[in-house]
Amino acid sequence: MTNSLDLSKIRADFPILSRAVRPGVPLIYLDSTATAQKPVAVLSAMDSFYRLNNANIHRGVHTLAEEATAMYENGRALVAKFINSPSAKEVIFTRNTSESLNLVAYTWARANLKSGDIIILTEMEHHSNLVPWQMVAAERGVTLEFIPVTDDGLLDLEAYNKLLEFQPKLVAFTHMSNVLGTINPAEEIIRLAHEAGAVTLVDAAQSVPHIPVDVQALDVDFLAFSAHKMLGPTGIGALYGKAALLEAMPPFLGGGDMIKAVHLRTFTPNTIPHKFEAGTPSIAEAIGFGAAVEYLSGVGMDAIAAYEHEIIAYALERLKEIPGVKVFGPTADRVGAAQKKGGVAAFTLDGVHPHDVAQILDGDGVAVRAGHHCAQPLHEKFGLPATTRASFYLYNTLAEVDKLVEGIYKVKKIFG
Ligand code: ALA
Repeated sequence: MTNSLDLSKIRADFPILSRAVRPGVPLIYLDSTATAQKPVAVLSAMDSFYRLNNANIHRGVHTLAEEATAMYENGRALVAKFINSPSAKEVIFTRNTSESLNLVAYTWARANLKSGDIIILTEMEHHSNLVPWQMVAAERGVTLEFIPVTDDGLLDLEAYNKLLEFQPKLVAFTHMSNVLGTINPAEEIIRLAHEAGAVTLVDAAQSVPHIPVDVQALDVDFLAFSAHKMLGPTGIGALYGKAALLEAMPPFLGGGDMIKAVHLRTFTPNTIPHKFEAGTPSIAEAIGFGAAVEYLSGVGMDAIAAYEHEIIAYALERLKEIPGVKVFGPTADRVGAAQKKGGVAAFTLDGVHPHDVAQILDGDGVAVRAGHHCAQPLHEKFGLPATTRASFYLYNTLAEVDKLVEGIYKVKKIFG
């Protein structure tokens, strides 16, 4: 199997990848679905901002304030371009995907939904695209319906079509599952939702970092993602929203910058995107976010997606060889099919608790996550308290997959 990316060049850009977790044990980082590692380009952009340009934005007239404002807004412009947003003003900076999803729940949903309305979600949602809607449902008497997940880890689109007959007001779904790795057919789900008159919201926390995402091609109404899963810093995420929707929505948090004018008893909200960005934002982080998307674009999102298909196909093939291992989500032959599988392999090993698997793998420097991965209902559906999850990104090698497999054989040996 050939690598379509220049792995040694890419790996050299990530300082952390050359550290040892303990003497003589190199790091094998297979937890990018939780958070991705950061290239020098991102670290330098943020470091340089603090060394040379640090000032608050949208407030001062002095040189540093103007530089900082321009750099922050350039970060927004780069992120907007990365998802092919028609304009930068349709990209709101938030703290993370969860906050982006909550913003829609607190503003659009509370302004537009009433008792008896229906929201369609899926059984594979991360808690961040579930709990905010449970809260809206409890407060407003809204009903939640769920697109079922098949045993293969795919969305049951026939069931979805039937649910659409109830004329939902919102269809909110994950583009790519952080457990199953399923890449859902977002364009089709959105088209059908629109035909039924629903607004659409995509949790793109796992898709924007790994596959090309074009909000205009998707025709999505709202799309949420985080910088830290796509080589950027923690503390900043984005919400894309169509301008007409964002303009009609009430503000989210109140404070500085989100206003045009304030009087003792009233205020006039600012225009978008500032209307949704109260207080001093994550300035260095926006600059780091911009550097991250420039890095990803430099490698090429098509090339990254193609490489991740290679690596997950190889991982699924190798994991299949191990007696007692069961991987969840679409099988290897779905890689490249209509509902695809991204670079995530959540698995169980007969007779061994997922936390023990992760702990023993860590002994050999292999970093994986164990637990329900903030998708407890999905684990309940499969009758599991937890899984062990290996996840891959552009800097992982096939040799690292071999190390994972060796580590699992070691776990089996220890547990007899
Ligand atoms: N959503 C992140 C994960 O799947 C934290 O690990």
